[in-house]
Amino acid sequence: MSDAAKRAAGRAGAELVDSGMRLGLGSGSTVEHLLLAIAERKLDVAGVPTSTATAARCRELGIELLEPDEVDRLDLAIDGADELDRQLTATKGGGAALLREKVVANMADRFVLIATEDKLVDRLADTFPLPVEVVPFAVGPVGRELTARGFEVSRRRVAGGEPLVTDNHNAILDVRWPGGLDDPAVTDVAISLIPGVMCCGLFVGFAEQALLGRAVGEVTRVGPST
Ligand code: 5RP
Repeated sequence: MSDAAKRAAGRAGAELVDSGMRLGLGSGSTVEHLLLAIAERKLDVAGVPTSTATAARCRELGIELLEPDEVDRLDLAIDGADELDRQLTATKGGGAALLREKVVANMADRFVLIATEDKLVDRLADTFPLPVEVVPFAVGPVGRELTARGFEVSRRRVAGGEPLVTDNHNAILDVRWPGGLDDPAVTDVAISLIPGVMCCGLFVGFAEQALLGRAVGEVTRVGPST
C-alpha cells in the first residue's frame, strides 16, 4: 500500500492528540507518520515508546519519552497493525515489537489502530502470519507444541539468516492457521498459556477504533458503530 495511505492514517492519528497527553507510541512505518505529525504540531506531550526504534526516532524529533514505571496510566496509545478484522482484533508484531506494544496498549485508557485499508481482513492469520514472542530457552518446545496443535510455524530470521532477537532478547515464531482463525480470543489465550511464550501478537479487546488510510489520502474510520 502506498506511503500516502500510511501518511493519511498517521496524520489522522495525530489529530486525536492534545497537548498535555501522556501517550503510548507504537512502532512501524505508519507510526513514523504519526510521530512526524506530532512533532510538526509542536504538541506538549510525552510518551512511552514501544520499541528502541521508536524511542530513537522520538529523540530525533524532540518528543519527550517516559519509562513505563514513571506513569500510572496513558491517555491514549496509537499503534500500527499487520492485520485487523471488523471486531478491531489486530495481529501485531511484524516489526517484532509486539510485547512492548501489548504492555503499552494495556496501560492506555484508549487504544487506536492506524493502518492502511488493505490490512482489514475477514479472518486473521491466514495470509499474514501471527507473531509469537518466545524466550530463547523455549523456542524448540513451543514450536513443537504449536505444530502439534495444527499451526504452520517458522522462526523469524534477519536478512543474513541469523535468528531475529527482539528488544527483550527473545525469539519470534511466526505462525499461520490455514484458512484463518475461527476465534482469535480463544487462540490468544491458548497460545499465551504455553510455557515459554512471552506474548501472542493477537490484540483482542484493546482497540476502540481503527483509522484506515486509503491510497487517495483519505481515511476510513472503523469502530463499534461502523
Ligand atoms: C511492529 C508492529 C507494527 O505496528 C506493524 O508491523 C505495522 O507496521 P507498518 O505500519 O510498518 O505496516 O506491530 O511490531
